[in-house]
Amino acid sequence: MSRLIVVSNRVTPPAAKGEESVGGLAMALAAALREYSGIWFGWSGKTTPEFTGQIQMQKAEGVTVATVDLEEADYQEYYNGFANKTLWPLCHYRIDLAAYDRAFGEGYERVNCRFAETLRPLVEPDDLIWVHDYHLIPLGRELRRLDVKNRIGFFLHVPWPAHQLVATLPRHRQLVQSLFDYDLVGFQTEEYLQAFEEYVVAEAGGERLPGGRLRAFGRTMQVGAFPIGIDAAEFADLQRSPRARRTHDIMAAHTVFRSLVVGVDRLDYSKGLEERFLGFERFLADHPELRREVLFLQVAPVSREGVEAYQEIRARLDALSGRINGEYADLDWNPIRYVNRNYRRDELAGLYRAARVGLVTPLRDGMNLVAKEFVAAQNPENPGVLILSRFAGAANQMKEALLINPNSPEEISEALMRAMAMELPERIRRWRALYENVSREDVTAWRDSFVHALEGLEVRRTALA
Ligand code: G6P
Repeated sequence: MSRLIVVSNRVTPPAAKGEESVGGLAMALAAALREYSGIWFGWSGKTTPEFTGQIQMQKAEGVTVATVDLEEADYQEYYNGFANKTLWPLCHYRIDLAAYDRAFGEGYERVNCRFAETLRPLVEPDDLIWVHDYHLIPLGRELRRLDVKNRIGFFLHVPWPAHQLVATLPRHRQLVQSLFDYDLVGFQTEEYLQAFEEYVVAEAGGERLPGGRLRAFGRTMQVGAFPIGIDAAEFADLQRSPRARRTHDIMAAHTVFRSLVVGVDRLDYSKGLEERFLGFERFLADHPELRREVLFLQVAPVSREGVEAYQEIRARLDALSGRINGEYADLDWNPIRYVNRNYRRDELAGLYRAARVGLVTPLRDGMNLVAKEFVAAQNPENPGVLILSRFAGAANQMKEALLINPNSPEEISEALMRAMAMELPERIRRWRALYENVSREDVTAWRDSFVHALEGLEVRRTALA
């Protein structure tokens, strides 16, 4: 079996099970790598005054984690800049928030080049290389420049947006062209794959070939949709852990005469948190008789604090949660509990199980693994109800959730009402179908289908121009 080299910007050092916190990509990769011998390469999360290219190695559970520090300018221009001020908003349909700054583009290219140079000496001829997410689109091209002939795959965790949006990016062709240095490019859903193909046909004169191949820029590569999943079995184990039980019992005792509605998201404008709060407010206004019977707990650990749009959304949510609580709270009850702390995954598992409703309402989301974890954590005999945005990639697989348009406070309010009123047989029927999907299309299935597709491709023998 070939060794697998996984490359992502964010790397979580191997931790004891349950201790890691939210962040879809890192969780999925940690689970995917647990069974493979290989290397996980990425940014250490630290900055130094100057880039040294020195690799820090850590080994645990058969996986070698190799990280490198970045310099301050890299952090600003590559991570905060091109990745999180340009590509992230663009991929999430927020071109109003996207900054098109040439220095960011240069920082992005520089860091991808640095990553490639640092990684190069670790690569052995038979390794499969698997690059992840929007931070590292040009990494394949940089590795090819260094004469890496291995099979290299790329997986995009975020949405690939409609081609008119991509075209707003200066030098968008160059970015897309660099994807053609991979052998395989994967997306979360058919919709994103189609949007990518449409771009390639319309903007680059490319052509769809049989067997999921795509030709443009004088190259042919394989493309596909590979919906990411969770480690459902591990999550079920977590569910039985003492911390999960304790969290469950605390929350269950706390909401003994009420229903717990729960949301867990990184504090990000793509997650639809303002719209969710407004939807919940609408529910309170529409159903005065139910007010004291619900508690909405929103866990939203702060994220990417160096980016203004994140500071702004945080301030707006502070104000909004305060306003709604001020308006509806009573001496012994307040409707929203809004927490910016990060929780361990075993605690989250207990929290999800104690909830009557999971409220997952992103405005755009590549997949959304919280929706899947919520389902995996439920008690089969008395499961809660998942309310899910139709704009999460997960909605394609989770049709038995209550699917809503997150922009509509009325739809959120109505779905909450339906979830509260839903009888046990319907809850069980929906949950079983959801759970069946979550456990079948899990993280192992995702990894294996991608890795097998990559393994099945021919190694590039010819030198690249
Ligand atoms: C999303 C992205 C990941 C990223 C994660 C956390 O899931 O797709 O690439 O790692 O958010 O964001 P952060 O900026 O903290 O890595």
